[in-house]
Amino acid sequence: MTQGWTKSDWRAKPRIQMPDYPDTAALNAVEAQLVSYPPLVFAGEARRLRGQLADVAAGKAFLLQGGDCAESFGEFRADNIRDTFRVMLQMAVVLTYGAKVPVVKVGRMAGQFAKPRSAPMEMVGNTELPSYRGDIINGFDFTPEARIPDPQRMLQAYTQAAATLNLLRAFSTGGFADIHRVHSWTLGFTNDDKAERYRELSNRIGDALDFMTAAGVNADTAHTLSKVDFYTSHEALLLEYEEALCRVDSISGKPVAGSGHMIWIGDRTRQPDGAHVEFARGVLNPIGLKCGPTTTAEDLKILMAKLNPENEAGRLTLIARFGAGRVGDHLPRLIKAVQEEGANVVWSCDPMHGNTIKSPSGYKTRPFDDVLSEVRDFFGVHRAEGTIPGGVHFEMTGQDVTECTGGLRAVTDENLQDRYHTACDPRLNASQSLELAFLVAEELSARRDEARRVAV
Ligand code: PEP
Ligand code: CO
Repeated sequence: MTQGWTKSDWRAKPRIQMPDYPDTAALNAVEAQLVSYPPLVFAGEARRLRGQLADVAAGKAFLLQGGDCAESFGEFRADNIRDTFRVMLQMAVVLTYGAKVPVVKVGRMAGQFAKPRSAPMEMVGNTELPSYRGDIINGFDFTPEARIPDPQRMLQAYTQAAATLNLLRAFSTGGFADIHRVHSWTLGFTNDDKAERYRELSNRIGDALDFMTAAGVNADTAHTLSKVDFYTSHEALLLEYEEALCRVDSISGKPVAGSGHMIWIGDRTRQPDGAHVEFARGVLNPIGLKCGPTTTAEDLKILMAKLNPENEAGRLTLIARFGAGRVGDHLPRLIKAVQEEGANVVWSCDPMHGNTIKSPSGYKTRPFDDVLSEVRDFFGVHRAEGTIPGGVHFEMTGQDVTECTGGLRAVTDENLQDRYHTACDPRLNASQSLELAFLVAEELSARRDEARRVAV
């Protein structure tokens, strides 16, 4: 698959959404340093995730991918990592119960630092400066100095990613992820009067766990109940960083992106002949590809052939992000393109990036109802087409932020200013994330019931 490919071939291709570093010597020095550092993840882990995603493609597992829009140096704290990890585990328990299949958990964490922007320059008042491109590239402050791309930031991002991954690995195995404990947190949520609708499902999960305990299946006897697999992912946008962390898998001899388990190509950088596709096609990691309203069937076919020439299940995840009310216009035509090629893909739904609006108060936000409506339409189209809705992809945090409007504990336009902390796009808060998981679980169990009825 990667014959003749080298990790620096992308340099000969058109690149967009990447910084021009003013100091080439400084850039080269940082790259040389990163090349000498250990990879953050190992090829065997990326291969294992590919295997699990192959189950997702076959409808035997469900993918939950989520985390920050942009990780930042300023918000780097153990609490933030723990809380996002925790709410993802809670969502996973609820989804597992709804889908009755394992949930593959992938964080937008430990590397999600670089951001594509809609405009290269940002205007505030009469001042125009280069846009902020994520903490791995330049600074958020609106000053000329902060906005200069600084390669040293790659080293800080690497260190932060390594420390984040270290904590995630400890949480995954050290007792924190025990399923009983995770469910007891969710009980707290559903005991809230406003969450009454979800209490019954939550109680049923509790009953199932009690039954298992009574039958002697507990964290001591079944280690899978006390440990989880948790993977990391990010948009592979800053290719100097990706190239520097690319390694060769000692078992297969194939190149692997050592920066995270899964990497994806954004909706703005998916040109079939562009630098980002060129890099991603050569590494063995599972690859995500964002598909938006402007993705043509023709491009998708070329991209599937380039990114997954052997048509291996689990290699390619198509992440649909069309916007509420637009799924019906685009998803069926892309599903058709996939079917015409007989391509093996995971279909995942990102209901965030097509639903960003500017609120009357001036904040970038996403109405919870639009997010939900896109998810529902995604499931509806797959039901109509007889294809598999494999997963969901959310921008979310375990913190109680006020960035997306709506939800049970309704965040209003006036509330947005209270705790608006994101460095880039608005995220679902812990309560909104959990609510969404309950709603997706309802979709999944309705789908299962339907499949069973057909089978009878
Ligand atoms: C993102 O996932 O943060 C993002 C920028 O998405 P997209 O490429 O789909 O716009
Ligand atoms: Co985003």
